[in-house]
Amino acid sequence: MGMSSEVLPQWLQAARIARDNAYAPYSNFKVGAVLIDQKGGLHLGCNVENAAYGPTNCAERTALFRAMADGHKTNGFRAMVIIADTDEPVPPCGTCRQVMYELCAPNMPVYMINLAGAVNKTTVKELLPGAFSAKQLSKD
Ligand code: THU
Repeated sequence: MGMSSEVLPQWLQAARIARDNAYAPYSNFKVGAVLIDQKGGLHLGCNVENAAYGPTNCAERTALFRAMADGHKTNGFRAMVIIADTDEPVPPCGTCRQVMYELCAPNMPVYMINLAGAVNKTTVKELLPGAFSAKQLSKD
């Protein structure tokens, strides 16, 4: 368990607001994510589901793609917070881990929290050991 004091109150509040905005009529599983940039700017994401299921976008990727679309650069993020209404803080899915690995620094903290206030802290590289990345695309 990480220290809850590391998650600033404004990050927690933003994560709850993002979760409230989730569009999850099929699973009824609402998730919020906040990506914090180096200047303290907050980029909110929620899961957005689809009747065809497959096009569903997780909260984490929504936040990541939103920050990129707003002009932020890779490796320039301070932390991510993920919130759901679960007994144990919710871990990100494999697809989101891959996208985090692409866009965030390996040591960036990821705080997984729940509505009750439990906090689990990890990092991007801990979430995806042995990741496939741009390194593998070039032979030299
Ligand atoms: N989901 C997220 O948004 N983030 C996670 O970390 C886990 C899963 C969403 C996808 C789908 O809309 C719902 O939760 C149930 O899987």
